[in-house]
Amino acid sequence: MGSRIPPVKGTRDVLPLDIYKDSDEPWLRIGHYQLIESAARTTFPLYGYREARTPILERTELFARGIGEATDIVGKEMYTFDDGAEGKSVSISMRPENTASLVRAYVQHNVQQSEPETKWWYLGPMFRRERQQKGRYRQFTQIGVEAFGSQGPRIDVEQIEMLHRWLTALGIPFAMHLNTLGDGETRPRWKAALQDYLRAHQAELTADSVARIETNPIRVLDSKFDKPEILEGAPRIDAFLSDAARAHFDGVKEGLTRLGVPFVVDPRLVRGLDYYTRTTFEAIATEGLGAQSTVAGGGRYDGLVKQLGGGDVAGVGFAAGVERLALLCAAAGREASSRPVLFIAPLGEAEEKKADELAQSLRAAGLGVEVSLRRANVGNMMKRADALSARFALVLGGDEITSGRAKLKELKTGAQHEVSLTDLVAALGQLS
Ligand code: HAM
Repeated sequence: MGSRIPPVKGTRDVLPLDIYKDSDEPWLRIGHYQLIESAARTTFPLYGYREARTPILERTELFARGIGEATDIVGKEMYTFDDGAEGKSVSISMRPENTASLVRAYVQHNVQQSEPETKWWYLGPMFRRERQQKGRYRQFTQIGVEAFGSQGPRIDVEQIEMLHRWLTALGIPFAMHLNTLGDGETRPRWKAALQDYLRAHQAELTADSVARIETNPIRVLDSKFDKPEILEGAPRIDAFLSDAARAHFDGVKEGLTRLGVPFVVDPRLVRGLDYYTRTTFEAIATEGLGAQSTVAGGGRYDGLVKQLGGGDVAGVGFAAGVERLALLCAAAGREASSRPVLFIAPLGEAEEKKADELAQSLRAAGLGVEVSLRRANVGNMMKRADALSARFALVLGGDEITSGRAKLKELKTGAQHEVSLTDLVAALGQLS
């Protein structure tokens, strides 16, 4: 007998059943994921976004250069290994996010030439070696979008409106937080002022924040462990915005107001990746998630394409955490279901053969059918039909085969409809 092999910490199985019911962790079923995915698949194409898929494995250099060496993600959280397969050593990492990969693909395939304005969306697993807690895992799923090639604020507005539409369709309780991180002219001046201020308060800051003063002072503002009054007293970007950065931010706010998208300006919203410029935004759940309440985050990254070897192309995007959205859908009892239309309960061997044939022709007509594969009494077979949430059940015995007629039972109401077995497709079509 082999011993059980436990799963890797920070990963989870998503099954069609309630497996987390008895643990501290709220349960997530595949139906919650599917609901979120299908809402994305319906919403994003309405705005012209097309799906793109890139590899999970990329060269480590892509993330180091794209996301930033000084970030927690690159500095501490990547799953990195040396792939010496071709005799030379190449450092490979499992993607911690997908923006850098999509930019790589965009540059690699010269998309700028064929499509000056490009909108892509994606879905897939990302990997970060983080401390596990509710809503934070080491393998998690993101659904995200990236739009390349548009400079003005209208694309930021369109994308935030799309995120708002998607989350609203899912019934997520959230607030859209908005900020600007300024442009190349703004940032160095703000950063210098921030460093002066933080150095002056060094004695009161945590060691982590002190270490960040020189490398990544903007991230200190995001610290959850420092005194809020110190962070609040820090110089605000507002005073340092260049005219162009201010005009862009005003354009975003004006556009969102015009389209009726509610938002709150949040000067402390700084994001954990280094590529952002100008607009940043986060959708934050207003209930149900505890500490990990950011369900989606994104912003503009106008220098990233160039930094990764492409042209001077603007970009803006966001990614949402599917597990966090799924926890909220689960709490609200919302999920996608794939219940069969009909459950057939054959009573004997000849009936089983007939049931298999009926099921074959119904499935060929596009109807979901489950045939009892276990010979059991009618009561037990009906229990199985209920557990599957089938719409109708049909008991197939000798009489039904001889007469060619049977009773379709609607499981929710108990109503019975007599139908001809040769006409089942039409009968189910009429009743559904
Ligand atoms: P991010 O803020 O690092 O941004 O991640 C986006 C979302 O992914 C978060 O708001 C959260 O919902 C989810 N997430 C992140 N880490 C975890 C985790 N360990 N467990 C569960 N969920 C998590 C990005 O990744 C950017 N690439 C977004 C973007 C796209 N910016 C521009 N384009």
